[in-house]
Amino acid sequence: MVVLRPGAVAAPPAARDIQQGKALYDRQCATCHGASGRGDGPSAGGLATKPADLADGRIMNPLPDEFLINVIRRGGPAEGLAPTMPPFEKFLDPGQTAQVVAYLRSLAQPPRRPEQEQPLVHVAGAPRQPIFFNHVIHASSFGIACEYCHADARRSDFAGLPSVDRCLGCHKIIGAQDNPEIRKIHDYAGRAEAIPWVRVFRVPEFTYFPHKPHIRARVACQTCHGPVERMRVVGADTGPRLTNDLKRLVGLTSPAPPLSMGWCIDCHRAENAKGAKAPLDCVTCHH
Ligand code: HEC
Ligand code: HEC
Ligand code: HEC
Ligand code: HEC
Ligand code: HEC
Ligand code: HEC
Repeated sequence: MVVLRPGAVAAPPAARDIQQGKALYDRQCATCHGASGRGDGPSAGGLATKPADLADGRIMNPLPDEFLINVIRRGGPAEGLAPTMPPFEKFLDPGQTAQVVAYLRSLAQPPRRPEQEQPLVHVAGAPRQPIFFNHVIHASSFGIACEYCHADARRSDFAGLPSVDRCLGCHKIIGAQDNPEIRKIHDYAGRAEAIPWVRVFRVPEFTYFPHKPHIRARVACQTCHGPVERMRVVGADTGPRLTNDLKRLVGLTSPAPPLSMGWCIDCHRAENAKGAKAPLDCVTCHH
């Protein structure tokens, strides 16, 4: 909390925003999230999903401002969270919302580091999935490792998606009572059905792409998939660009879009120059 000492020079705008944010917080949020943000307000007792501990920097700091603003203005379901986090757009204007966020940031323990200020990434054309599964919450906020869920990546051609049982390992309890998106996991489990996730990244049938050698060569997932941990919905920015690719094979330059042949080959050439043995011959990728 920021306290203005008597006789102090004019407070920087940030400090004034934080103070006004605190006043708004005390009025609107403390009943659930508690006076100090710890999630222990008087109304918290009756809620199945506990109000978040807004002072826990480990969980809050990786969440971009846009995420917090969206949850505060449009309610928990705007990011897949429980509807017991109500929308406040009728009670807080955008300026006031920003003040509340400034106040929440000031509560964080450990404090937020400047390099944690990373915006959300929106990819046009990202599909609607059967369950609103948010990588921002799982991979950024809770810091679950990519390979915990995509466990086949280092040992097979496919990265794989987590089974319903793997989701239930955590969600037997978390969110099961009052989050309709998490309820859906239990419904699929009850019907013994796999969750019909819509496939996002794909190369054509006649092309062979194996994950294993890439993970072994320590190519980061994000090099090829973008910053998934900052995507509310995963999307791929791709498309076939044959003429472009064939030109590049004979040495004419122009940027290659992700997942195109030129993109594979560019990286293979660059890696081979550093001593890797990535294929450039047609049959390895097309057999
Ligand atoms: C009626 C109780 C209630 C009130 C009032 C309330 N919240 Fe919440 N809030 C919740 C609950 C419950 C959750 C947890 C939802 C979940 O995890 O699915 C939550 C979650 C959040 C989150 C998401 C945190 C995270 O880790 O993803 C933010 C941010 C938040 N609240 C901010 C606020 C702010 C700011 C206010 C006041 C303007 C407020 N809340 C008022 C109940 C409330
Ligand atoms: C290692 C534990 C873990 C696993 C595994 C896990 N989750 Fe979660 N999940 C969490 C936590 C923690 C939250 C945040 C809960 C909260 O704040 O209310 C969460 C939140 C959610 C939410 C609500 C917010 C959002 O992301 O939209 C959904 C829906 C969800 N999980 C779906 C899934 C699905 C589907 C799977 C399996 C593919 C899965 N989870 C696997 C821990 C896990
Ligand atoms: C808690 C489990 C979980 C974690 C952790 C997780 N993912 Fe995912 N991932 C999923 C689920 C479920 C889907 C399918 C739904 C979707 O596309 O969002 C998915 C989809 C994807 C896709 C798109 C797959 C396709 O259809 O082409 C990519 C790429 C991806 N994840 C990469 C990552 C990366 C990179 C990380 C780490 C930064 C990560 N994931 C962390 C569960 C997880
Ligand atoms: C060198 C680029 C590259 C790297 C590195 C990479 N991927 Fe992929 N990934 C792809 C391509 C290309 C596809 C589409 C493959 C296909 O259609 O057969 C894909 C598909 C996927 C899919 C969906 C299909 C499947 O394989 O199950 C998931 C999930 C995925 N990747 C996650 C990850 C994760 C997690 C990592 C890091 C551990 C990672 N990827 C690293 C390029 C990459
Ligand atoms: C490193 C892997 C790799 C190598 C080596 C490679 N390709 Fe490809 N090729 C791809 C990928 C990936 C695609 C799919 C691109 C897309 O969908 O835009 C593709 C697509 C194609 C297509 C179809 C394009 C279309 O739009 O249908 C042809 C034809 C092709 N490659 C020919 C070749 C020939 C000939 C060679 C050898 C000179 C070669 N490729 C070498 C990865 C490779
Ligand atoms: C960001 C860099 C990068 C991108 C992009 C990339 N690769 Fe690779 N690829 C590598 C590296 C590094 C290796 C491993 C070389 C080694 O083991 O020495 C490799 C190896 C391979 C292998 C050889 C596997 C084996 O068993 O020897 C194939 C096949 C392959 N890549 C296909 C593709 C295809 C298809 C694409 C595009 C869809 C692609 N790669 C995109 C870096 C990349």
